[in-house]
Amino acid sequence: MNFVAALNDVAAKNLHVLEEQIKLSIADDPFIYEACAPLIKGGKRLRPMLFLLCANAKSPCPPEKTMPLATALELIHTASLVHDDIIDTSKKRRGVETANAKYGAQIAVLVGDYLFAKAFQLVADNNYGAQVQLILSKLVKNLCVGEIMQDRSLFEVPTLAEYYTRINLKTAVFLSSCCRLGAIVAELDTREVENLTAYGSGLGLAFQIIDDLLDFFGDEKITGKPHGGDLKSGVITLPVIRALDVSDEADTLRELVTRGEVTRADIDAAIKIIQAADAVDYCRTRAEAHIESARVNLPLTLTTSVSLALEQIADFVVDRTR
Ligand code: IPE
Ligand code: IPE
Ligand code: MG
Ligand code: MG
Repeated sequence: MNFVAALNDVAAKNLHVLEEQIKLSIADDPFIYEACAPLIKGGKRLRPMLFLLCANAKSPCPPEKTMPLATALELIHTASLVHDDIIDTSKKRRGVETANAKYGAQIAVLVGDYLFAKAFQLVADNNYGAQVQLILSKLVKNLCVGEIMQDRSLFEVPTLAEYYTRINLKTAVFLSSCCRLGAIVAELDTREVENLTAYGSGLGLAFQIIDDLLDFFGDEKITGKPHGGDLKSGVITLPVIRALDVSDEADTLRELVTRGEVTRADIDAAIKIIQAADAVDYCRTRAEAHIESARVNLPLTLTTSVSLALEQIADFVVDRTR
């Protein structure tokens, strides 16, 4: 399914304005514009979209109230990707060269910092208040802790619990915060805020599990990022964790993923072992369970069109190829 097809008219109209705002947000400095314009173009806009849908969940919310924060969320996300690509020494992102590949890690760190700062500037300039700033600060802190945990245990096999802690901190908290912020800006009641937050959390866990599958089985031309990158950089994810539990070739796989150096042939061998085990189905089943829990948390009080769009995003997350 085309991701944009998941949108109702309200969100589609908002998205057009969002693109303009995102472009404008990187236009203060010519070098930043040059470095960020190609990179910022290609994303799915999942985070601002979740925020916008939740902010319009019961009645239309004026764009002045939503656009700066929607833009800030995409900037924070892009900043985290710029830094993530330095950490993973990744060469491709959103189908184009990463900032680290193009300018080196030194400049890329600063480009990421700039995007974080610009996001917080937008939030401060538009008087969102302490509650919003606190949610944003916590989501960035969690993302950093998740990435640090991952980076401190490269080439080590995490337990299932460790894997879940990691994907919750680095991805699910972000998605749930987008929903929570939308619900807060829309002044929904406490129960609706909590339920939409829970929806985002289930969605986020499923999203990262599918991302981890796509790292092995996705098409680089569609995902826009390198194939097999996780194993290469020593990040051991759910498909491997499961295959290590059930495969006849677990010993071979363990040796290969923990050796500390991974070749293209190793990645292909790992993919074969993962495929021969039930690991792909296992990951999909888990992702679907998180999606189901996201779905049951959708409040019944939302307008039909927003409810439908959030349902379609849930479907998209498990079926996606990008
Ligand atoms: C990539 O997120 C980082 C993860 C949390 C897996 P997206 O897949 O949403 O990236 P873009 O915004 O579409 O590039
Ligand atoms: C999510 O994890 C990255 C961030 C939270 C920034 P990944 O490392 O799997 O993301 P991709 O696959 O590089 O987009
Ligand atoms: Mg990465
Ligand atoms: Mg990934």
